[in-house]
Amino acid sequence: MTAVRQIGFIGVGTMAAALVRGLAARHGGGIAIHLSPRSEALSRTLAAELPEVVRADSNADVLARSGMVVIAVRPQELDAALSGLSFRPDHLVVSLAATVPVAEIARIAAPAERVCRLTPLPAVARGRGPIVLYPRLPDVAEIFQELGDLIVAEDEAAIMGFGCASALMSTFFETQGRIAGWLARQGVPAAQASLYVRSMQDALAGTGLAAGERSASELATAHETPRGLNERARLLLQAAGHFDLLDRALDDIAGQALRPPAK
Ligand SMILES: NC(=O)c1ccc[n+]([C@@H]2O[C@H](COP(=O)([O-])OP(=O)(O)OC[C@H]3O[C@@H](n4cnc5c(N)ncnc54)[C@H](OP(=O)(O)O)[C@@H]3O)[C@@H](O)[C@H]2O)c1
Repeated sequence: MTAVRQIGFIGVGTMAAALVRGLAARHGGGIAIHLSPRSEALSRTLAAELPEVVRADSNADVLARSGMVVIAVRPQELDAALSGLSFRPDHLVVSLAATVPVAEIARIAAPAERVCRLTPLPAVARGRGPIVLYPRLPDVAEIFQELGDLIVAEDEAAIMGFGCASALMSTFFETQGRIAGWLARQGVPAAQASLYVRSMQDALAGTGLAAGERSASELATAHETPRGLNERARLLLQAAGHFDLLDRALDDIAGQALRPPAK
């Protein structure tokens, strides 16, 4: 097994667990995973659940056993987790820490020569969702492209933009809940209403993903009849400013993201 397929994780929380499950499902015995001992419960659970996974005794032990090191602690925990660790020049360092630039990770992980940021979503556990990589490191791209839709960002500003777009995830579920709630008020059993809306939106999302270069407006047109019900609903929402509000929410999020952190 090549060194980069010995994959270590410093920090075993929500995101690390999703990646570990996704990696194990996609690469099976083609990789080995070494987990830091924190968090204790989750690292023990994953080691018990997956044959590819071993729980190391310490963060230093993870580095000693791994060619690729995934840093999966929260940004405010970086210094405490990594200070005093001995990175090697050949370590390939993959940071999940949102908002922390590559240059800062490279400084902390010196003398490691190959450093990148990776921004997945928890659905990587099921091999789904976007995974943003910057910069492109071929070994990292090769391993993680199996876990979802890999997007190589052009620069770090783009990563910020992707992060802002991900702030509409809870709005997605709120919208599903509103549609299902309306259906239930028409007398449909709540479980059926929920299944109908979730299944419909899953199918539509799959259509969008499979549509490649076709634009969103082409897909909208393909899903409505002139003067039909879909067109009527879309135009009503448009006239009420619904879609402009999405732009406003994203502008607001971007403004927040660019604000210096509170002292
Ligand atoms: N969650 C997401 O959807 C998501 C998406 C994209 C990127 N990210 C990024 O992924 C990173 C992890 O996020 P998360 O949601 O997985 O956070 P999390 O669930 O809070 O996990 C952080 C983990 O780090 C461990 N940890 C803290 N200090 C440590 C140390 N000194 N040594 C070893 N491990 C230590 C914690 O263990 P204890 O429990 O023992 O403290 C915990 O298991 C963050 O930088 C975040 O920005 C997250």
